[in-house]
Amino acid sequence: MTAQASTFAAAPVSDSAPHPCTIVIFGASGDLTARMLLPALYNLALDRRLPPRLSILCYARTKWTDEAFREEARKNVEKHSRRPIDPDVWDSFAAGIFYSYGGYDDPEGHDRLNERLREVEAERDTGGNRLYYLAVPPTTFIGIIEQLGRAQAQGKGGEGWSRVIVEKPFGVDLASARELNRAVHSVFDEDDVYRIDHYLGKETVQNILVFRFANGIMEPIWNRRYVDHVQITVSESLGVGSRGSYYNGSGALRDMLQNHIMQLLSLVAMEPPLAIDGRSVRNEKVKVLNAVRLFEDDEVAMATARGQYGPGWVAGEEVPAYHEEEGVPGGSQTETFAALRLFLDSWRWAGVPFYLRTGKRLPKRSTEIAVSFKPAPQLLFHDFVEKPHLEPNVLSIRIQPNEGISLKFLTKVPGSPPRMRPAAMDFLYGASFVAQAPSAYETLIMDALQGDATLFTRSDEVEAAWTIMERVLSGWSSMPPLELPNYEAGTWGPAAADELIERDGRQWRRL
Ligand code: NDP
Ligand code: BG6
Repeated sequence: MTAQASTFAAAPVSDSAPHPCTIVIFGASGDLTARMLLPALYNLALDRRLPPRLSILCYARTKWTDEAFREEARKNVEKHSRRPIDPDVWDSFAAGIFYSYGGYDDPEGHDRLNERLREVEAERDTGGNRLYYLAVPPTTFIGIIEQLGRAQAQGKGGEGWSRVIVEKPFGVDLASARELNRAVHSVFDEDDVYRIDHYLGKETVQNILVFRFANGIMEPIWNRRYVDHVQITVSESLGVGSRGSYYNGSGALRDMLQNHIMQLLSLVAMEPPLAIDGRSVRNEKVKVLNAVRLFEDDEVAMATARGQYGPGWVAGEEVPAYHEEEGVPGGSQTETFAALRLFLDSWRWAGVPFYLRTGKRLPKRSTEIAVSFKPAPQLLFHDFVEKPHLEPNVLSIRIQPNEGISLKFLTKVPGSPPRMRPAAMDFLYGASFVAQAPSAYETLIMDALQGDATLFTRSDEVEAAWTIMERVLSGWSSMPPLELPNYEAGTWGPAAADELIERDGRQWRRL
């Protein structure tokens, strides 16, 4: 087996080869395991990146045998893997999959699981290293952690390392996030806790750090002196699908802004870290979140916008209103669109607005970070422009789709009379790299196996992000109920979102 570096391994490659271990997946009968985790693990097996003798012990309440679960796993991998099944690789991968059943907070089920775990560890010589993966609804997180603590107190912990991956959402507000952090820390050290934000596993998101800090030309202009404003958009054309009942208790702010968009903001705005490792990078990210100016209730109306989609047309298809989706109660006030204008009280970003927006059933799927620069100081080309102003230089980082980076600048149109037009320098991943990128889950699982937490969120980051969101939620709850729906599916959100940015004399980018 070739030793592989973790995504941002600080250690020499030879030190970072993953150890044999057992991954224990709680919630193994669920959607995440079927669509993301098993396909990711299988693709890692296909690339021969998994540690030797890796074992996967799956656990859920559904009663299955090892064989029945392996059959089920194969069907799911066939359906969801980014590459087809290679029968030889599958056979050796599947031989390492085991199944045990029981309730998530049920001591009897956990005793059975521990017994099975011991057998698997002995049979496959995994050295007692364990990676627990909580792929279950968040209501069951604490019950599982308590049972893991009970096993540890009874001396049934592994002899090697034990780490835990916790899925999102990490809490529904600051108090619940703190409670979950307390529960997790009663059993695991923070260094062994891997909170998933799958955006951090995306290649284009990791590239933000490389783009900013591996190139000398960016940092000198990446600040309030040159940047006019920043826009971060995560737009989705899909609705809530079959997740209506989860989503209705969440909404766009909790589902996307608190986690994914706050992570993008941190990476774009952070200071250069001392090193590319979990501690240094996350120290800088959390400083950004702590620098966000917190809203008072009476500021929320002017600095935020929210909405919910009504019926409409997306990509030529007629789609229902949010409140008609499965699992959504009529009269729901849950927002499917949210926009915020934030300021960071830091030396680098003082006075620079960050406009953030996300929504479901918007015209297209597009995640982009756009850094808009201040205009040239003197307008020498009066006669060249048709508009009363020059178009700004914009650096746009396309996270997905059409992954790439482009810089818009003005150029002279050949011929006369003299005219100028914006042009773009464009970098496209697809045109520059042949290899298919690994999925976010492949990257993140591999990093957790190697003990590299750089791409996972730390307890203080999660709490800082909730502190920001709580002020928005508090402002919204003090405002009169909205007249909903307030945007048509297939449009760019409610009028209030345009008003939010237009009050500052700016506009959302057309994507
Ligand atoms: P599921 O709803 O599919 O639940 C996973 C398993 O948990 C189910 O198969 C079921 O197994 C058990 N379960 C379901 N509901 C309950 C309940 N109320 N009480 C106890 N057990 C229950 O969840 P997902 O797989 O979709 O998600 C798992 C985690 O991953 C969640 O935290 C989710 O937020 C997160 N996530 C999921 C994504 C996805 O695309 N699915 C994307 C991003 C994050 P059994 O009955 O056999 O025990
Ligand atoms: C999840 C949200 O975390 O991210 C979903 O719960 C959302 O509502 C999804 O659709 C978006 O992820 P991606 O990778 O498709 O942009």
